[in-house]
Amino acid sequence: MSENRSSIDPNAPLRSDRNLALELVRVTEAAAIASSRWIGRGDKNAADGAAVDAMRRAFDSVAIAGTVVIGEGEMDEAPMLYIGEKVGSGGPEVDIAVDPLEGTSICARGMPNAIATVAVAEKGGFLHAPDIYMDKIAVGPGLPAGVVHLDAGPKENLRELARAKKAEIEDLVVCILDRDRHKEIIRACREAGARIMLIPDGDVAGVVACSQPGAGVDMYLGWGGAPEGVLAAAALRCIGGQMQGRLIYEDDTQRERAKSMGIADPNRIFNVEDMARGDVMFSATGVTTGAMLRGVQRTTTSAVTHSIVMRSKTGTVRYVEGHHNFAVKHGFA
Ligand code: FBP
Repeated sequence: MSENRSSIDPNAPLRSDRNLALELVRVTEAAAIASSRWIGRGDKNAADGAAVDAMRRAFDSVAIAGTVVIGEGEMDEAPMLYIGEKVGSGGPEVDIAVDPLEGTSICARGMPNAIATVAVAEKGGFLHAPDIYMDKIAVGPGLPAGVVHLDAGPKENLRELARAKKAEIEDLVVCILDRDRHKEIIRACREAGARIMLIPDGDVAGVVACSQPGAGVDMYLGWGGAPEGVLAAAALRCIGGQMQGRLIYEDDTQRERAKSMGIADPNRIFNVEDMARGDVMFSATGVTTGAMLRGVQRTTTSAVTHSIVMRSKTGTVRYVEGHHNFAVKHGFA
């Protein structure tokens, strides 16, 4: 049995109205619209605060009895959407993973790929990941199971991926967060002949891009946040694709934290279903335009939003364009 989860039938439907997936889009739209007021204004905390506040309020009208398991932090560090907080107006008991503004710095700097995102699973469906780093590897759908592995080096993974895709390594693009800690994997990928898409932030979008036809990404590699890893796994659970993640501990406190959250084997490699199990729904709305989604387009009186909503049970992926009129939708701007 996987870590900190009860026994869940991976194919069991979420005991809820199928419209829940569409309700979720309102939640990410609200967060995206609120944070869009802060795009490029250099204040990432204000942008994040606006997204959190709007998302928290939007949950009030969603018919669920939700518990936040991936959120803004512990109760004593986050005023809203903290781990353990109950959200929703009542209904089926579900677990919630949120990142109201994924890419706070990119939003503050007006750069591409900031999104508002939420995922829902039946109780116990998400890995309770501590807010530490996770080493990640991901590829898109339709490839042999285990084609890439976290323990293999970039060159070996590229060779196997190229073979499976009947391509040359030179045809492949690897998405990597632009960080000093990734210098070695960047060097190894380039040496093998692959092309690299360096992103400044926002690895949920980076991982999901592997599974989006047209996004131009074949593999995701590198360390990012563990909570973001669970959200990305939730998306892949719906859209298809493979991912592995292993927690990275910088000190004993982080080890203890993981243990207290139910991680029995600190070195375990988690795959998609270990991180997001059962019937999973995922919604994201673009804040700034990126490979995954277009950003919020605002006027003084209105906004247009672009979202992706998906559900693992049906495998349906919907792109939703929302036209919001602030004159009628009070308190939404
Ligand atoms: P925030 O939205 O919290 O700023 O996170 C952005 C992000 O780039 C994530 O997408 C990623 O998982 C993480 O930060 C990487 O952390 P670091 O900036 O420490 O490398």
